[in-house]
Amino acid sequence: MNRLKYIISCLLIALCFACKEDKVFTEADINIIPKPKALQLNKGSFEFNDNTVFVVSTEAQKTICNSFINQFKTATGISLSIVNEAPSNNFIALKTDDSLAAEAYTLNANNTNVNISASSDAGFIYGLETLLQLLPTEIESTEVVTNIEWIIPAVSITDEPRFKHRGLMLDLSRHFFEKSYIKQTIDRLVKHKMNVLHLHLVDDQGWRIEIKKHPKLTEVGAWRVNQEDAAWNARTTNSPDEKGTYGGFLTQADLREIVAYAEEKNIEVIPEIEMPAHVSSAIAAYPELSCFEKPIGVPSGGVWPITDIYCAGKDSTFEFLEDVLLEVMAIFPSEYIHIGGDEATKTNWEVCPHCQKRIKTEGLESVEELQSYFVKRMEKFINSKGKKLIGWDEILEGGLSPKATVMSWRGTKGGIEAAKQGHDVIMTPEAYCYFNFYQGPQNEEPTAFNAYLPLNKVYEFNPVPEEFTEDQAQHILGAQANLWAEFIASDDASEYMMFPRLAALSEVLWSPQDQRNWEDFSKRLFTQFKRYDYAGINYAKSAYLVTASAKADIENNSVKLALKNEFPNPDIRYVFNDDSIENNATKYTDTLTINETTIVKASLFKDNKPVGKTYVDTIKFHKASGSKISFAHPYHDNYQADGIQGLVNSIRGSKNFHDGQWQAWIGNPMEATITLDNITEIESVSVGLLENQGAGIYFPEMVEVLLSSDGKTFEKVGEVKSTLSKSTGALLKDLKITFNKSEVKFIKVIAKPHDAGFKGNNTFVFVDEIIVE
Ligand code: ACM
Ligand code: ZN
Repeated sequence: MNRLKYIISCLLIALCFACKEDKVFTEADINIIPKPKALQLNKGSFEFNDNTVFVVSTEAQKTICNSFINQFKTATGISLSIVNEAPSNNFIALKTDDSLAAEAYTLNANNTNVNISASSDAGFIYGLETLLQLLPTEIESTEVVTNIEWIIPAVSITDEPRFKHRGLMLDLSRHFFEKSYIKQTIDRLVKHKMNVLHLHLVDDQGWRIEIKKHPKLTEVGAWRVNQEDAAWNARTTNSPDEKGTYGGFLTQADLREIVAYAEEKNIEVIPEIEMPAHVSSAIAAYPELSCFEKPIGVPSGGVWPITDIYCAGKDSTFEFLEDVLLEVMAIFPSEYIHIGGDEATKTNWEVCPHCQKRIKTEGLESVEELQSYFVKRMEKFINSKGKKLIGWDEILEGGLSPKATVMSWRGTKGGIEAAKQGHDVIMTPEAYCYFNFYQGPQNEEPTAFNAYLPLNKVYEFNPVPEEFTEDQAQHILGAQANLWAEFIASDDASEYMMFPRLAALSEVLWSPQDQRNWEDFSKRLFTQFKRYDYAGINYAKSAYLVTASAKADIENNSVKLALKNEFPNPDIRYVFNDDSIENNATKYTDTLTINETTIVKASLFKDNKPVGKTYVDTIKFHKASGSKISFAHPYHDNYQADGIQGLVNSIRGSKNFHDGQWQAWIGNPMEATITLDNITEIESVSVGLLENQGAGIYFPEMVEVLLSSDGKTFEKVGEVKSTLSKSTGALLKDLKITFNKSEVKFIKVIAKPHDAGFKGNNTFVFVDEIIVE
């Protein structure tokens, strides 16, 4: 080899080493949630290795980088270090730029370095969260992952939030959550660039914050009789003498630790101390706080209406609350104190001599104005300590001082009214922000509050009403998800309800409205799911589920079945009966017409593979399908199925008792008479039943079947009796009565409700189909 050849080959080798199989990124590789305000993909990439360093100029920046470094070490096994002077290359530099807004940042990555600029620690925190999301999803792993190139695309990002208040409310009262879970939730909030954690520390079913001056609040109020084996709304009233064993509370030291932890992550913790209602736990501890001082136990489940409330007449009530708030304010640096204010039933105030005296001396017109007096008096105290009051939208009733901030939960109406009056508003309308609602079809979901909030609906939310002027819009501070915990008894269950809906809400609150696009979000969501998988988060895959709506065509003895999924242009495929969904599925394009008993299975497909759970339903035609049916007692107006033939329409109901397939009776039995077209040989009758004790729906006490060939003389051929037995969620049951083969034309089926359920009220019987075979 001559010298020139040698030099050329050396150069080639060096060059190859330098450009080592450059990974080429495309837009599809960038899946940041919430979507940044502006992002440009450039040529090139930046690779992390053992020698990559962070360059910082303050202690706070060092703390922020350490959080990244810890996560990086956990997932990669590589320890990155921090320096004060930038080397020539292979570094991530944090640079203060005072021209940027409070939570804004810019991130510029090229082949040799990454520069993150911000004017505040918050901006650096969010810049580094974005940096994590530019890395492979394995970066979220809780253990070392090997054989990964820790490489990001060259990008220029300019980013800042749309709203100032980006929150989540945790309800610690209905079920208690430990400090460790709260801190874990804070970690997850910051990953979604959320900045408020609202702690609902007080409610009927548990007082969760230590108050040193009034120790019984936690000694008594934090503990209830354990009735976790019963449905939330079927739990019985506890005697004040029975000691509670189920619950817990946070000490002031715990809360200080939580606040400090949150502060490092730009998360403001807002405490909520409910008043004047949702305080049975406090009244159980100190009955003198109520109008008539009647001792009560801490309720173990649903209380409605809420009549055990603080007395607004006695000054001692306000002295107590001021004591409590003084201790609360000493723990939480937030500029806000949330005083609740929702759902007070003021029947005691109507008749309490103290409350009536207050109404008179203050010149008030009504108990609503007495609540307004209550709130204003507390607000004055809160303001005198340099803090601001937040309350649920009921605080608008009877007048409100302009400095108060309104949390609009009963839709957006309260928020709209409040903003027009000049109040600041945090939007939490139930229809978009209540993460205690179901996120998928009830048959596939853990028991939740009986309402529906799928992921795409969260994503649709716009906290600023369209008709708002610029000025009014300025009053919308933001929004938050509320995770009421009546049906959430564990950390896993809480995660399930929170994710991925929090991802959708984070984008609602962070990204510019005109940048938001459900289809684009749903693509990025697949990557987010991988991050959740690596992080060990128990997120819901409900958005993958196929949902069906069935309609009977009685005249043609057929059923029309429409399949849906909430993702845009879903690839839904289905099979019938024993066929395999993995191998033989047909792409769904239009409503299916079913004419004979058929098992339908359907799934969402991605990359030609089924994802999520498979939807399975049986459309069952039987000997009474489409027959004439009449009832001795009419079914309930609210539960009419699809009309008079609803129980012989071959379509089954789901665990959702509002799904339009159920008929219901209360007070009277269901007594149905089916008239078959001809004399027919039959040998069994099954009654499709639902139980949901929290909603007052119980399996019947007795079901009987009688047969007749002439419609006049009926012979009883079977009967099943059952006693009450506790259950928590919704249960479906087919109660089958078999008898000797009989030639009949008329079938009478009676289902008698229990006279009373566990709470002593009349019970409902729910029936979806009477199957005759
Ligand atoms: C609420 O949901 N009662 C604020
Ligand atoms: Zn009173």
